[in-house]
Amino acid sequence: MRALRAFSTILASASIVASAILPRQGNSTGYQLQTGPLDTPWTADVGTNPWPEHPRPRVERAQWKNLNGVWRWRSVTAGQVEFPPTGQILERSVLIPSCLESALSGIMERGHLYSWFQTSFDVPSDWPTGNRVLINFGAVDYEATVFVNGKRVGFHRGGYFEFTFDVTDYLSMNGTNELLVHVFDPTDTGRYQIPIGKQTLTRGGMIWYTPCTGIWQTVWLESTPAVYITKLDLAAGADGNVNVTVHSSTNSFSTYEITVHELGSDIAKATALCISGSPCIFKVRSPDLWTPDSPTLYNITVTHGSDSISSYSGFRTISRGVIDGVERPLLNGRFEFFWSPLDQGFWPDGIYTPPTVEAMRYDLEKLKEVGFNAIRKHIKVEPALYYKAADELGFLVIQDMPSLRPDLPDPNNSCGSVRLEGPDAQAEFNRQLGLLVEQLKSYTSIFAWTIYNEEWGQATKPPFPEFPLTDLVRSLDPTRLVNAVSGWTDHTAGDFDDNHHYSTPQCGSPFWSVQGSGPSGYNSAYDPSRIGLQGEFGGVGQQLPFEHAWFDDLARQTAYELTNTTEEWNYRCIQNIVQLREQIERYACSGGVWTQTTDVEGEVNGLMSYDRRINRMDKGLWSSTIQSLYDAAAKRGNGSMAITGRGAGLDGLQEVFT
Ligand SMILES: *[C@@H]1O[C@H](CO)[C@@H](O)[C@H](O)[C@H]1NC(C)=O
Ligand SMILES: *[C@@H]1O[C@H](CO)[C@@H](O)[C@H](O)[C@H]1NC(C)=O
Ligand SMILES: *[C@@H]1O[C@H](CO)[C@@H](O)[C@H](O)[C@H]1NC(C)=O
Ligand SMILES: *[C@@H]1O[C@H](CO)[C@@H](O)[C@H](O)[C@H]1NC(C)=O
Ligand SMILES: *[C@@H]1O[C@H](CO)[C@@H](O)[C@H](O)[C@H]1NC(C)=O
Ligand SMILES: *[C@@H]1O[C@H](CO)[C@@H](O)[C@H](O)[C@H]1NC(C)=O
Ligand SMILES: *[C@@H]1O[C@H](CO)[C@@H](O)[C@H](O)[C@H]1NC(C)=O
Repeated sequence: MRALRAFSTILASASIVASAILPRQGNSTGYQLQTGPLDTPWTADVGTNPWPEHPRPRVERAQWKNLNGVWRWRSVTAGQVEFPPTGQILERSVLIPSCLESALSGIMERGHLYSWFQTSFDVPSDWPTGNRVLINFGAVDYEATVFVNGKRVGFHRGGYFEFTFDVTDYLSMNGTNELLVHVFDPTDTGRYQIPIGKQTLTRGGMIWYTPCTGIWQTVWLESTPAVYITKLDLAAGADGNVNVTVHSSTNSFSTYEITVHELGSDIAKATALCISGSPCIFKVRSPDLWTPDSPTLYNITVTHGSDSISSYSGFRTISRGVIDGVERPLLNGRFEFFWSPLDQGFWPDGIYTPPTVEAMRYDLEKLKEVGFNAIRKHIKVEPALYYKAADELGFLVIQDMPSLRPDLPDPNNSCGSVRLEGPDAQAEFNRQLGLLVEQLKSYTSIFAWTIYNEEWGQATKPPFPEFPLTDLVRSLDPTRLVNAVSGWTDHTAGDFDDNHHYSTPQCGSPFWSVQGSGPSGYNSAYDPSRIGLQGEFGGVGQQLPFEHAWFDDLARQTAYELTNTTEEWNYRCIQNIVQLREQIERYACSGGVWTQTTDVEGEVNGLMSYDRRINRMDKGLWSSTIQSLYDAAAKRGNGSMAITGRGAGLDGLQEVFT
């Protein structure tokens, strides 16, 4: 009770004390880039105006304002969320967006479970009065409680997902506004079992990395009319059918107009009038299809009352079918062999936050150069601009759900462990899986969803969670494939039978050796009723001079298999990839995932070093070997099927204006 009363006293006096002493936006005093174990070629470009690009390319409005830059920060203890330090100037400077643990943050410290972040902003004077003002966060790890001018405007849980609050009623339109964000991030302390991917505060070992705490993606304001578009769900198939749902801030039915533009011009290729809140289907005649080799994207505009947004999409259909007796993934009705790196999205200077958009695209460009047509985005979610880059460059993205920590000590058995803490951890994982699919399902490049990686946090006693979760994902997004479990314990859920094996592949083959230590048994051979996939293999490494390594200690530079020279590294990698090709020729292998895009901390098995300054690949050798995978796959199934996959063959065409 006492706490609550104190809280409301602060609220009452907030707007009076605020404006005179607020830290000013754009004041970078006190911010100092830290010197981490390793930087990248982009570290020095970041400065104090990071990520200036519009952060949400699929729903873009003209009037927006970036709030990134140097903010103020204070580490606190539990129980402070009810006491926002309104009107105080917090002691330390921090760069937003960043992870507190990163050099770029200016803090570079671990273990701050609770903290306050603070900035101030003016609402641009040319924004129409009577409009709404929304505040958007790309991602805050892990829980965010947001205050504007001392008043609590909202709460969000989940370290990888975007969220928006309408703050209009809390703002001064003609003065300075104070923004305070309370962040709580337990990562894997205590018995917390929440989606964290590879972050850890407590474990050592080769495959666990520095955690990320805080506001690690762009924060921004936008101005919208009183009635506005809150979400745009859109799937465009190879048959030219567009299935669109516009969600509106008003609950009553209202109309909108959607236009797909001709390539390279503002002229309409197709326009439809639809009603918000439920699917609307219309046809675009003979669109150029999107494929990894030819990633054509069409501009789209949507007008809803006086709200207008720009967007885009490619036309393609993802499905599965039997070709020459083998279950295959199909793109636009044809078997598409997919060749992907395991891509973790870690950076030595920014940890989870890539230093710049150019740096983020650089990884994708280097992969494209040698012929990768897919990406397994491994137990992390990237900023929206990453998925736009994948759409533009032509990658099929296998998006993993960020995993729970693998297991916890068993309270009943000091030598044992439990995979899942309990029903609350499961329920929160399920909820966040829904957020993942809702957030990314309208990007053209998304090809498949992965629910579990290697049994991490996956309950292993019946009822097996991957069955209802596969149904959940299919109900939220019927247009993609589902990889229910990538590696380890498989009970036949989903569209893939995915084997992990290092260093050699065992893809769609009758022989699978048991790997890992799961308690509930394995398939020991490929299950022909699903698509055969090598979800991880390779992991061939090479130790590096200390100026390119995270650890100045060779004993901590490790891999599944180490080579001594770059020449040896190329030889061993290509040997493994040639084995995969032989399995494409002989067995039911439909895709391979090579570990991995870059070195990450102590794992030195990247195609590139962690700082991206060394590219280990012999480009000619890799390009020709990768091409030989596609050629081998084409020989096994170059027949095409009628396009009947999920998301295509749409019935009930609405009125169409072309
Ligand atoms: C910038 O912030 C510092 C530290 O809070 C403060 O001392 C200084 O007066 C500010 N400068 C301006 C121009 O606001
Ligand atoms: C700011 O706007 C409020 C109404 O929102 C008004 O009462 C106040 O006089 C304005 N102040 C200035 C300095 O224009
Ligand atoms: C889409 O619109 C953007 C911005 O107007 C333009 O730069 C781009 O060329 C357009 N793309 C196509 C395919 O027309
Ligand atoms: C430990 O044992 C208790 C009592 O049998 C049981 O209720 C509880 O579920 C067990 N905990 C785990 C994690 O198995
Ligand atoms: C690497 O070099 C060391 C020292 O010459 C040797 O002992 C080791 O066998 C070599 N390892 C490989 C994989 O060639
Ligand atoms: C298509 O497959 C047949 C065998 O089914 C093969 O003879 C032919 O060379 C393949 N075509 C291409 C372009 O790979
Ligand atoms: C259109 O999309 C919605 C949402 O994904 C889906 O439920 C519906 O089945 C789709 N309609 C058709 C005809 O595919």
